Parts: sequence; structure tokens; C-alpha cells
Amino acid sequence: MDKIVIRGGQRLKGEVRISGAKNAALPILASAILSGGTSIFRNVPKLNDLRTMGKLLSLLGASVEEGDKSGHTLRVSTDGIRTFHAPYELVKTMRASVLVLGPLLARHGQATVSLPGGCAIGARPIDQHLKGLEAMGAKITLEHGNVIARARRLHGASIVCDLPTVTGTENLMMAASLARGRTTIENAAREPEIEELARVLNKMGGRVQGAGTSVITIEGVDSLQPIEHSILPDRIEAGTFMVAAALTRGDVLVRDCVPEHLDAVTAKLRAAGAIVEPEAGGLRVRGPASLLPVDITTQPHPGFPTDMQAQFMVLAARARGQSVITETIFENRYMHVQELARMGADIHVDGRTAVIRGVKKLTGAKVMATDLRASASLILAGMVAEGTTEVLRVYHLDRGYERIEKKLAKMGADVKRVRDT
Ligand code: EPU
Repeated sequence: MDKIVIRGGQRLKGEVRISGAKNAALPILASAILSGGTSIFRNVPKLNDLRTMGKLLSLLGASVEEGDKSGHTLRVSTDGIRTFHAPYELVKTMRASVLVLGPLLARHGQATVSLPGGCAIGARPIDQHLKGLEAMGAKITLEHGNVIARARRLHGASIVCDLPTVTGTENLMMAASLARGRTTIENAAREPEIEELARVLNKMGGRVQGAGTSVITIEGVDSLQPIEHSILPDRIEAGTFMVAAALTRGDVLVRDCVPEHLDAVTAKLRAAGAIVEPEAGGLRVRGPASLLPVDITTQPHPGFPTDMQAQFMVLAARARGQSVITETIFENRYMHVQELARMGADIHVDGRTAVIRGVKKLTGAKVMATDLRASASLILAGMVAEGTTEVLRVYHLDRGYERIEKKLAKMGADVKRVRDT
């Protein structure tokens, strides 16, 4: 298995191009089930999670092919779908497999999806997905670890989510697009990826309004058409490079990001002393000589994203003073803390709150990635640590960052992927 080897101490300089958003591409690929025919998706990031979604669609009977040499264009044909089962083997490697539930049920009247168990960052139930689908007329049972859902045709419903859930809102929007009548989703998630999915559904001929606010209204239609669409840039990848620039006293132009999607991240980087300025084509980030402490509470969008919490913890670990981070979205998303502690960080966790006292130096060590964003934080820590850091178990990283080591190296970081023998 590969590992990432980092020699710390380099300042990042230059520019980096942001890839398509993983968490937008996943539901968009699943949405192709709704239309039949062949859809063409561009700017799809080359990531293991997207490969897993491709595998799942193929298993259902769809064909997923690369549409050009870049590997960033996918042609997805869903006419051949004859199987309606997302098996445990795939769901356990990627929880977002549950995104086929709404589309399969709406278009084919049935879906069996293995119930995702807990995962490294928390329990992550899917009760809100199921409650919404039941309100639309689905009969749902749980057998042998599988959620089995059936409906002749879903009908519109008034759904109030107990909490905003990203993939839950997406599943319900997709299902409601082919339901009979009007669905309203209250307390919907407001992430940019939800707006992107609404754009896609509307391009297909759907009638979705209000995405990006907490009330989404969907008028169901009888059929949807295949489309061509280019995926929006990944705000979490962009945020990760912004932190890298701030942390290393660098000067980086983060190209092809959408600045408005990064407002909460930008505000906290500025509070930490970084200079963040919009520039043609993206955001320029310059790191301060010495970082200031920052207090952060993760929130659903437009609040500070949980997917940036681990990266900011590295900033806090190097700041002059004490920072407090509170994780409100996932109950167990502090798995990076022990690894950062091995590098010399001073972090005390009590329940959902982490108190971080900035230290003068971190020192390189062998560390183990435990989830995707934790992996990214360990690479960032390695870039400002004294000596060499080895980040093991990089398969987590490959789920969500496209060639991160190449992108960092191009800006002057000493980061390499090495086969671990
Ligand atoms: N929740 C429930 N019931 C549900 C659904 C969610 O209690 O039916 C809870 C979860 O346990 C969690 C909270 O609601 O405490 C929010 O979870 P959400 O459903 O919004 O998360 P998700 O849809 O499973 C997506 C992203 C995650 C990201 C979260 C939060 C995708 C494919 N994944 O997950 O991305 O952290 O939203 O923003 O969109 C990542 O990219 O590293 C990642 C983990």
C-alpha cells in the first residue's frame, strides 16, 4: 500500500487548480438513474469514491464509460438497469451508495440498499431518508441488514426533516422529482452541492425550487431526460489548499474555486491572520508570519463545514495561543487528534470540544490516517513539522483528493507518494 512522505519546512508558492466536487458528483451520477438514456458528466474528479459509484451503477446494469482521454468525463447510460440492489460490499466502503435509493425507487418502484453501519466519524443513521420516502408512499422494511423499499409510484408529501442532512435532502429531491404531485422538504440542507443537484434535476426537466434555502419545493414530473453537465469545483479541496497556504506562510492562488462557497472558511483564515483576496480565477491566500488562535464551531452550511475541521486543527496547533474547536455534526470526528499529538500538538478533547494550545514546533512522525479529512490534516501537519512525516493508510485520502501530493509538490512542498513495502 502507498504512503505519503513529507519533509516539512517548505513554503507553498504558486497556483493550484481545484477539481470537481466529490460530494456533488456522487448524487449527480446517481441522478442519471432517473432519466434513462445517456448522460455526459464533465469535470468529474478522479477519485476512488467516484469509481465506487461507477461500480455500483454498473452492478445495477448501467454502463459507465470514460468519455475522453482526461478521465474527467463520464458517459452514463442507465437504460440497462435491471437490478435494484446496492450490496453491503459497496455500501460499507462508501456510505454515499445510499444515494441510489431515492432514484431507484422513483424510477423503478423498488430498491434494496444495505443499511450502512456506523463509520469512523460517527453513527450516521439514514432515518431521515427513510422517513421522507415513507411520507411519499414508500413501503419500507428492514431484512437481513438491507433496507427494502417499494412503491408503485411515489406521491408528493410535506416533509419536515428533524435535522438538515445533505445526502438525505438529495435522496428526497431525486425521489420527489418523479413523484406524482408536489413535495416540500423543510429544514433541508443548504449546501452548494444541493443547489448543484437542483440545477442538474432542472436541466433534466425536473421542477425544483428553493435549493440553497431550508425549504425546497419539487413538482414531480412524469419523466426526465438525460443531460450534459459539468460538475462545480470542490469547496473542501479548495479550503484544504487555502489552509496549506496560510499554514506555510505561503502565497497561493487557488484557481477555479467558487469564493462564495468558502465564506466561512475565508472568515476563519482571516481571523487566523491570513490574507485572503479574491482574484480573477479564484482566491489568493497569503499566510501570516505567525498564526493567531481561532475558535470554530462546525455547522451545516452556510456555517463552518465539518469537512474542514481537521485541517483547521493543524492551524490551531501552530497558532500563538489557545483555540477552541467544537464539532457539532459528527460525534466522533476527532480521530486525527491522537495522531497530531504524536507530532507534538497540544490538544485536549472533552466530548465535542477540543482545546488546542499552539506549540512552537511539530515534529515529523509516522502517523495513520483514519478518515479522509483526517488524512489531509496529517499531510498539512507534516508540511510544517520538523523532519519527515509518513502518512500511512492513504486509501482514505484517495477517496477524496485528486493527486494532492502532485498539486502540493508543484507549489514547492516536499511531498511524495511512496510504495510501502
Ligand atoms: N443524520 C441523521 N439521520 C439521517 C441523516 C443524517 O441523524 O437520516 C445525522 C448524521 O448522523 C450527522 C448529521 O445528521 O450527525 C449530518 O449528516 P449528513 O446526512 O448531512 O451527512 P452525509 O449526507 O452522510 C455529507 C457529506 C460528508 C459531510 C456531511 C456533512 C456526501 C457524500 N458526504 O454526508 O462528507 O461531512 O455531509 O456536511 O455528501 C467528506 O467528504 O469527507 C464527508 C464525510
